[in-house]
Amino acid sequence: MANIYSGTIVGKTPRELMNSGIILEETKAKIQYGENQSAVLITHKLKSGVEVLITSVPVKHDNGDLWCFIANFREITDLTNLRKELEESRTQTQSYLSELVELRNRLLKANQVIARSIPMRKIMEKLVKISTADVNIYLHGESGVGKEVVAKLVHAMSHRKEGPFIQINCGAIPENLLESELFGYEKGAFTGASRLGKPGILEMAQRGTVLLDEIGDLPLNLQVKLLKAIQNREFYRVGGVKPVKMDIRIISATNKDLEEMVKQGRFREDLFYRINVIPIFIPPLRERRDDILPLTYHFLQKFNKKYSYDRILAPEVCRNLEQYDWPGNVRELENMIEQMVVMSEERQIRAYHLPLHILHHPDGDLSGELKTLKQAVAQMEKKMIAEAIKRCGSIRKAAEILGVDHSTLVKKQQKYSNLTG
Ligand SMILES: Nc1ncnc2c1ncn2[C@@H]1O[C@H](COP(=O)(O)OP(=O)(O)OP(=O)(O)O)[C@@H](O)[C@H]1O
Ligand SMILES: [Mg+2]
Repeated sequence: MANIYSGTIVGKTPRELMNSGIILEETKAKIQYGENQSAVLITHKLKSGVEVLITSVPVKHDNGDLWCFIANFREITDLTNLRKELEESRTQTQSYLSELVELRNRLLKANQVIARSIPMRKIMEKLVKISTADVNIYLHGESGVGKEVVAKLVHAMSHRKEGPFIQINCGAIPENLLESELFGYEKGAFTGASRLGKPGILEMAQRGTVLLDEIGDLPLNLQVKLLKAIQNREFYRVGGVKPVKMDIRIISATNKDLEEMVKQGRFREDLFYRINVIPIFIPPLRERRDDILPLTYHFLQKFNKKYSYDRILAPEVCRNLEQYDWPGNVRELENMIEQMVVMSEERQIRAYHLPLHILHHPDGDLSGELKTLKQAVAQMEKKMIAEAIKRCGSIRKAAEILGVDHSTLVKKQQKYSNLTG
């Protein structure tokens, strides 16, 4: 500062500054006559091109008359440049962000993944961030929530996408075969082994991604071998003496409580930390109900195409689907839509095409006044019969849905029409 102003402005009055062309007439007026003669702050570009912030404070006599102004000049060229840079980088960040969103949406579409709810969108954001970093990922969540879908998406977004994606279900392969499936074997490693030997999936997935599904079912001795392989980035085939280099990303998935298994000593803690660099929890469908309808329409389209139909859904079907708790998660929803597309004999899928357990019975709960079991069963039966007849439009169809004979339903209906309550 001093080298810019010393000898130029220090000690000079605004008139002298103006006469020497350092400040303009209008700036001087602003400096001296701030509203209500209070302090003023203005920015000004000096003739030299230097930008300054001028603070001008009035000094008054004891009787309140104005005596003079004290003005302070502070150079802000750097500040202005910084602000400009900040704005530029903000604009750039914004454009990167929109590019990322665009990229994510394209990937979701290409991989047929639905992620409309906030929890799923958050997961997708996390995936975009981690897919390029080569870290091991641990997916957990109930059965059917989409762990495999997410694992495939991670692979498709990563630089390994040109490499293989191989999955193995550790729970579905007999323990004695699992080791050679994972690590492969050398010729003559055991009786029955191929004479040529065979690579395991860790070898076949070089430069790609391996999904170790149901990792909680991996026996303890193989947990040790896997841990060593991850740590040393190499392993030995069964019966092998030459190490095989390992260049893969490992994604593990489970619907078990692995942390609890670690506490119980059924899963090695050191392996748990190796595979669990980035944990991703996929919530059950009932905790992300905003995904239910988008998934429903996605599957409707999929199965309409598969079976060459043109089915549509009645609004009451959507309401029922949205309210149901989906213990089998997305898989259950997918199966149900497939069944309804195939089974419906009309173009429009109606509520009576839904299995009874999905139909919403808002007043069918057992709260309130206690009844005998017989009374409660009769009441529930009456409600279900009335509801089924209403939805199906005919006693024959209602009987079919309720799984009773037509004559039984007629008898029951007559019995209940004579009862009140
Ligand atoms: N977000 C989604 N978008 C589209 N389809 C999905 C989605 N999530 C799951 N699905 C479908 O639901 C079915 C079950 O998903 P997936 O196999 O990925 O579940 P999972 O969590 O691996 O189940 P499990 O624990 O039983 O192995 C699959 O057919 C899959 O295509
Ligand atoms: Mg799975």
